[in-house]
Amino acid sequence: MLAVIGGTGLYDPGFLAGAKEQVIKTPYGEAYVLMGEGPRGPVAFMARHGRSHGIPPHLVNYRANIWALDSIGATGILATAAVGSLRRELAPGSFLLLDQFIDFTKTRISTFAEDKVIHVDFTRPYCPRLGGYLVDAARRLGIELEEQGCYVCTEGPRYETPAEVKMFAQLGGDVVGMTNVPEVVLARELGICYATVAVVTNYGAGIAPVPLSHDEVGSVMKSNAERLRRLLQLTLELVPPEEGRCCGKGDG
Ligand code: HPA
Repeated sequence: MLAVIGGTGLYDPGFLAGAKEQVIKTPYGEAYVLMGEGPRGPVAFMARHGRSHGIPPHLVNYRANIWALDSIGATGILATAAVGSLRRELAPGSFLLLDQFIDFTKTRISTFAEDKVIHVDFTRPYCPRLGGYLVDAARRLGIELEEQGCYVCTEGPRYETPAEVKMFAQLGGDVVGMTNVPEVVLARELGICYATVAVVTNYGAGIAPVPLSHDEVGSVMKSNAERLRRLLQLTLELVPPEEGRCCGKGDG
């Protein structure tokens, strides 16, 4: 079964029939999923920030969310993320498949392993197989999707200073956001395949002459939400339900 984690601007799946809310108890607290029928079987949808965007990025219960998706048998997660662009040529409205990240978070618990030592391999942080289905779906729909992107994850909830944006770009980042870490890390620890489509909602601070606002981010997401939904829906149609997990737990 596949799961979709909707980021800013994607609070309801739209593409799932008969979606019903389920509360899942986990060792880390409760998690909320909408279980519905996708094009090829059941799909779980989770709104990362809650359905009315009440949970800020640094307070999302990432461990409860990922543990819950694992417990209901999710084999793969298609996630969405609103991001700021660190490159002039990557304009608002661009879609990008993430393939690397740089972690600048500070206060988050980024592991399930509290009573044993594990060091997970992160050579390929994102699942190339699920990413391939997203690329295929984008091609079929005529949606432009950059096939590589390095995501810089900040602690938030504030936006960056122009100096930080300049530094992140120099370090090799393409986009900046506040949520992919530890989500992608926790998914890998449990062996769940994970891919993210990032939607550029704004230029990073200092690149555009105007200050950033959450309203701007929300309104660019809104105008791209339909494209994003179509991309997710076709991807759900393309992934054979019998395909399981391919990203090992990597707990060596
Ligand atoms: N910075 C951090 N997170 C974001 C941004 C940004 O510019 N835009 C959307 N999410």
